[in-house]
Amino acid sequence: MTTRRLIEMKQRGEKIAMLTSYDYSMARLVDEAGVDVILVGDSASNVMAGNITTLPITLDQMIYHGKSVMKAVKRALVIVDMPFGSYQGNPMEALASAIRIMKESHAEAVKLEGGAEVRESIERILSAGIPVCGHLGLTPQSINKFGTYNVRAKEEAEANKLIEDAKMLEEIGCFAVVIEKVPAELATRVAKELTIPVIGIGAGGGVDGQVLVVHDMLGINQGFSPRFLRRYADLASVINDAVGHYVDDVKTGDFPNETEQY
Ligand code: KIV
Repeated sequence: MTTRRLIEMKQRGEKIAMLTSYDYSMARLVDEAGVDVILVGDSASNVMAGNITTLPITLDQMIYHGKSVMKAVKRALVIVDMPFGSYQGNPMEALASAIRIMKESHAEAVKLEGGAEVRESIERILSAGIPVCGHLGLTPQSINKFGTYNVRAKEEAEANKLIEDAKMLEEIGCFAVVIEKVPAELATRVAKELTIPVIGIGAGGGVDGQVLVVHDMLGINQGFSPRFLRRYADLASVINDAVGHYVDDVKTGDFPNETEQY
């Protein structure tokens, strides 16, 4: 899978399936099951490290997750999120961070949050031949500015800025844009106006593809149930039952039996 192929998929009207992964074992399963894109999201900060926000995760930690995922993936395109503080400061710092991600993790693209505010950083990264995916709408690295994880761009001014930012991202050369938690009508309009794929999360079905956090859609992370999330499994219950069963078997002496020893 390549960035170019994703654009061709949009041209053909073929939807793009994207999921997050952060480690070797999950990435292998997700890749083998046929997703088009694996996002090594900075949601690793929440899901893997137990932080409340995505802000604490470091560039070194994102590279570690990216490297682990890359070892597993045979088909999907792998995008690594640029963590908070690694690209907002100045364009040269952004370029250095993106180069580290590409060189050390071997990923194929980076994603970063924001529009006009980070334009120069994106241009600098693109100038080095590094594919960039944008991220607009609810951008979790700005949670302290927003003060809430509610739907974004309900008001006209914010919706207009999102449309302008999305067009700008396409114009300067981004290969795709993630749009998170905005009204479906707005996301559909953006997808219609852009030639690059718009991947939605909580942005309705009128966009070119969907992304979810894999731990959320598999029901591992049970404390998070926004309206946009569809749970495809209840792995928390499966794991709870299996581990409970194991504990019982160990305590009663049922495990290991004669065939499970040397
Ligand atoms: O970090 C992440 O997982 C993301 C997706 C939710 C789009 O950015």
